[in-house]
Amino acid sequence: MKITAAVVKAQGSNFELTKVILDQPKSDEVLVRIIATGICHTDMVARDFVMGSPNFPVILGHEGSGVIESIGDDVHHLNVGDHVVLTYGYCGECEICRSGTPAYCYEFFPRNFSGARIDGTHNHHYPDGKVINDNFFSQSSFATYAIAHKNNVIAVPKDAPLEILGPLGCGIQTGAGAVINSLKVKIGSSIVITGTGAVGLAALMAAKASSATVIIAVDINEERLNFSRELGATHTINSLTEDVQKRIREILPNGVQYGIDTTGRNEVINNVLSSLAPVGEMVCIGVARKPLELETNIFLTKGYKIRWINQGDSVPQEFIPKLIHMYQLGQFPFDKLIKKYAFQDINEAVEDSEKGRTIKSVLIIGNQEY
Ligand SMILES: NC(=O)c1ccc[n+]([C@@H]2O[C@H](COP(=O)([O-])OP(=O)(O)OC[C@H]3O[C@@H](n4cnc5c(N)ncnc54)[C@H](O)[C@@H]3O)[C@@H](O)[C@H]2O)c1
Ligand SMILES: [Zn+2]
Ligand SMILES: [Zn+2]
Repeated sequence: MKITAAVVKAQGSNFELTKVILDQPKSDEVLVRIIATGICHTDMVARDFVMGSPNFPVILGHEGSGVIESIGDDVHHLNVGDHVVLTYGYCGECEICRSGTPAYCYEFFPRNFSGARIDGTHNHHYPDGKVINDNFFSQSSFATYAIAHKNNVIAVPKDAPLEILGPLGCGIQTGAGAVINSLKVKIGSSIVITGTGAVGLAALMAAKASSATVIIAVDINEERLNFSRELGATHTINSLTEDVQKRIREILPNGVQYGIDTTGRNEVINNVLSSLAPVGEMVCIGVARKPLELETNIFLTKGYKIRWINQGDSVPQEFIPKLIHMYQLGQFPFDKLIKKYAFQDINEAVEDSEKGRTIKSVLIIGNQEY
């Protein structure tokens, strides 16, 4: 079928809306009419080729939401017409997936970043037959239609606003999952979150929903820090003008129990680690552009835990519906992070995300009603 997709033709170049051909789904796949797709910083990382990603030309996009148009013969838990959120790809068969940690599937890289299906085939090509790299996060959802694997298609309630649900498939579940699944933040505890973009603010809202008592947000963007206070931060620190370690010790002389870093920056991660209370725990989420250096000797007697986590340790079939329920009850207002853009304004939406003008850009691609 003929679809419109935003194609990145070369490393670092703009997204160009292009007519391309999408094949029929295979027996274990689902065809989804895309209603909206969030923009995540990992799309820009893949566009710029920082951590190894699909070759070019490529169709990116990995926070899709939409309506199932057709399903393959081996898909039994989904139906045509279902409202769905698309998330990351995983095999569902290996011992890592079966032990409840699919974000670390042995096949995570090929199913999300290889630019093709796990068997090396593609489902998009130009009208002249030339192949386009795709299957980004098993979806490539910067497009009017997308093919996803049955494992990464999550059915969601029809009374939830489908247009804004896509970011639950990556950025929002990543931040919220860091708090709820990875750190298991306890009632009455303290937490510091560095970087208050979509991931950090999702973590902040989840920390509030988990009844953490002290929630410290750190950023270099004053507007985002003000917004963090609106969303539940009890303290904010601007690391451009303030000494982060000193301020945290003023707030909590014994240190902070939990830390989440979304910046990937050396000095920021060191600030969080150095501010932890004994046996404190931190997780790192941000893509780093440089190797990390740690002064480990000062931590030898502290009992700290530090872990790099993926997708908030989420089991998406279980976690995404849980976040939607929290949203519907007013306990997780992630809609406040979102600004909507028309699909043709994708480059403006990307630039606004990169410049920090928009926290979570969402492209409106299709109509929920025909
Ligand atoms: N591993 C995963 O599962 C996963 C999933 C989604 C996103 N990510 C990554 O998480 C990171 C965060 O994503 P996002 O969408 O929230 O990005 P974002 O750019 O919206 O947020 C990052 C924030 O960090 C702030 N910041 C930058 N330098 C800082 C400094 N020195 N001190 C304090 N704050 C600083 C920025 O002002 C910004 O508000 C990205 O690297 C993204 O690629 C990882
Ligand atoms: Zn992402
Ligand atoms: Zn697996």
